[in-house]
Amino acid sequence: MRTPWIVGVSGASGTPYARAVLTGLLDAQQPVDLIVSRAARLTILDETGLSFRDAHWAEDLSEWLGREPTEVRYWSAGDLAAGPASGSYPAQGMVVVPASTAAVAGIALGLSKDLLQRAADVTLKERRPLILCVRETPFNLIHLRNMTQITEAGGTIYPVIPTFYNLPSSVDQVYEEFTARLLGFLGLPQTDYYTYSGDETPAHRDRVES
Ligand SMILES: Cc1cc2nc3c(=O)[nH]c(=O)nc-3n(C[C@H](O)[C@H](O)[C@H](O)COP(=O)(O)O)c2cc1C
Repeated sequence: MRTPWIVGVSGASGTPYARAVLTGLLDAQQPVDLIVSRAARLTILDETGLSFRDAHWAEDLSEWLGREPTEVRYWSAGDLAAGPASGSYPAQGMVVVPASTAAVAGIALGLSKDLLQRAADVTLKERRPLILCVRETPFNLIHLRNMTQITEAGGTIYPVIPTFYNLPSSVDQVYEEFTARLLGFLGLPQTDYYTYSGDETPAHRDRVES
């Protein structure tokens, strides 16, 4: 089995981004270790109507993603003895999407208050890529200092900020472009639909023409 990416879903708004990134990683044949924070259950419920349950994660995840989660290994956020809590557990790196400012604070301080934060701490200590897709606005000085601290420790702040130069006509296109850019950032193959070639992107050309 290939080495997995750890995906953490924390309790910020933006769970459709989590769905899109999980789908993108699975489409790219990347195994995923998934951690959903307790607060993320509230945002998933709010934004999708789905009650995400630890005990029924496979059923709930397949409903959320609309596919069988065959390459997903799920870990309860309260399970601090889980694989991703150890640096010896193999992982390519970790993406937190969306990342709450609370998760950012916990990671910046090395709190490890749950498995999501502990896995992020391990990712940094093992010098693996840690990408935090932060969602909040506006930022206060505490958020900014915590994001600086994580950047200095080797992490990447990768906010869920949409672009508009590719003329999205639906929010799904916004999630799709974000995911394509993120997969490219992780070094994974991605569609060239959003790749700028010095002139324009195929997405822009298509949407101007339609
Ligand atoms: C519906 C809802 C939306 C929220 N949106 C955000 C958000 O966009 N950004 C954020 O940083 N926190 C947001 N929060 C607050 C976090 O859920 C809260 O700080 C929580 O403690 C995060 O915990 P976690 O990092 O362990 O998931 C939201 C909470 C709820 C219930």
